[in-house]
Amino acid sequence: MNRKPIRVGVLGATGAVGQRFISLLDTNPWFTITAVAASERSTGARYADACTWRLPGDCPDSVRDLPVQPCEPGLDCDIVFSALPADIARDVEVQMAAAGYGVFSNASAHRMDPDTPLLIPEVNPDHLALIPIQREKRGWDKGFIVTNPNCSTIGLTLALKPLHDAYGVRIVMVTTMQALSGAGYPGVPSLDILDNVIPYIKGEEEKMIQEPRKILGDFVPTEGKVRPAFMLISPSCNRVAAIDGHLETVSVELEREAAVEEVIAAFRNFTSLPYELGCPSAVNPTIIVRDEPDRPQTRRDRDAGNGMTITVGRVRPCEVLEHKFVVLSHNTIRGAAGASILNAELMVAQGMI
Ligand SMILES: NC(=O)c1ccc[n+]([C@@H]2O[C@H](COP(=O)([O-])OP(=O)(O)OC[C@H]3O[C@@H](n4cnc5c(N)ncnc54)[C@H](OP(=O)(O)O)[C@@H]3O)[C@@H](O)[C@H]2O)c1
Repeated sequence: MNRKPIRVGVLGATGAVGQRFISLLDTNPWFTITAVAASERSTGARYADACTWRLPGDCPDSVRDLPVQPCEPGLDCDIVFSALPADIARDVEVQMAAAGYGVFSNASAHRMDPDTPLLIPEVNPDHLALIPIQREKRGWDKGFIVTNPNCSTIGLTLALKPLHDAYGVRIVMVTTMQALSGAGYPGVPSLDILDNVIPYIKGEEEKMIQEPRKILGDFVPTEGKVRPAFMLISPSCNRVAAIDGHLETVSVELEREAAVEEVIAAFRNFTSLPYELGCPSAVNPTIIVRDEPDRPQTRRDRDAGNGMTITVGRVRPCEVLEHKFVVLSHNTIRGAAGASILNAELMVAQGMI
């Protein structure tokens, strides 16, 4: 794309997802970071001083000297990526959108708002049609809020999409093994998670029930809203001692019969609109299918496609439902910052920004 990079800010820039945003945006050709914001604890300091950099390598030079500002209108940028805790995000994101910023949010606060797109660009790009409706309803002339799903929802929903389109997904049983970085920093105390698995993540199962139904639902222009897909989802969410990468075992019942080979072909033939549009964060393929009986594995496969590809494996018949498989996605890239950046790229590619 031959245009000046768009000026962007990161809200919650010092946190686990915030640092991912900084790291990914630093090399993104369509965006340039001109503002960083966080809590009162950090404001006023240089970014490099306020933030203990926890990703591999050093904090990028381009942001080291930026002053950390409060999360409020007045930031010198056109769009913001939000990595705020949900309770803070609820009001801040509305204030920013009302002040004219495009807001791309990772937080759960507005995901299920009926007028807000819950977007995976490869899955439901047509849901961006909610934006004019959102603006009209809320009286915003320029600003908007677009959200991305919960980190474990993204991997699951990307895998369900080709099956839902081809055969209709009726029932989903899913068990997650979710990485520690999903709990932010410092997250779960080491003495709670080493030598252990914790079979509970607050609020996670509720999100995995609701969010895929909205994302896989149909935008109905005459009603100006998304009609959720009808499917039953039973999630069980577990925290495990991996640093990054959410592994999920999934069983599905389909509306129309499909052979295992057809299920595999549906995964392999999945295409990506943002890739076709040349979005820099889009990857091809979006879904890799591994044939080895012991893949995907969290440590070995989470970085596929720079963390934006999901890896599916062990596709086989299920003794209870019809088919079962394993899906792996990188939770802070595909499941958070990378997902949000791809949402923004899609809007740029479609001339909406
Ligand atoms: N981690 C993941 O894999 C993942 C995946 C998907 C979605 N998410 C969502 O992304 C969001 C961020 O998660 P995280 O894991 O990055 O959390 P985190 O590491 O705890 O970081 C929180 C960030 O928010 C800032 N903040 C906290 N309280 C604030 C306040 N009152 N006002 C302004 N800023 C405030 C913090 O700034 P200070 O440093 O100044 O305290 C920090 O920059 C959450 O909504 C989470 O649910 C996370």
